[in-house]
Amino acid sequence: MTMKINLTINNHPKTFIIDPSELLIDVLRREGYVSVKRGCDEGTCGACVVLLNGKAVKSCILLAAQAHEGTITTIEGVGTRDQPHPLQLAFVDEGAIQCGFCIPGILLSAKALLDKTLSPTKEEVKIALDGNLCRCTGYSGQIKAVLKAAAVMRGDKK
Ligand code: FES
Ligand code: FES
Repeated sequence: MTMKINLTINNHPKTFIIDPSELLIDVLRREGYVSVKRGCDEGTCGACVVLLNGKAVKSCILLAAQAHEGTITTIEGVGTRDQPHPLQLAFVDEGAIQCGFCIPGILLSAKALLDKTLSPTKEEVKIALDGNLCRCTGYSGQIKAVLKAAAVMRGDKK
């Protein structure tokens, strides 16, 4: 049995035929959104985070069918090579990236926070990134980068 789902991904309307038991991560990766990484596959590491209706969700523990009619953002839809998002620039500036495997998920969790407030406290940044594990960079640069991006987006910093 198959079913049809409608999604808006990175501002583009999409229709996919899926198996009702398929996970959102599998549908997204099959359709070319390979920034959505498979890490633990059990909702722990955050490598598979996407924004669903503005909220950071772990796509390895969500059925694609549950996202039907939803709006999804993956990192393919955030910034471009020529015009990176302030978060992307800040992560580079702060040296907050090593292998990069965790970074799409971390950026999206951070984006969900900054979409709500451009004046987050350090504690709020820590909470927003709490579900994202990074095995190689450590978190202090990443937290600093989120705070810096917020300041840039507020216009307090270049
Ligand atoms: S792969 Fe989804 S949380 Fe780790
Ligand atoms: S940069 Fe390598 S896991 Fe985070």
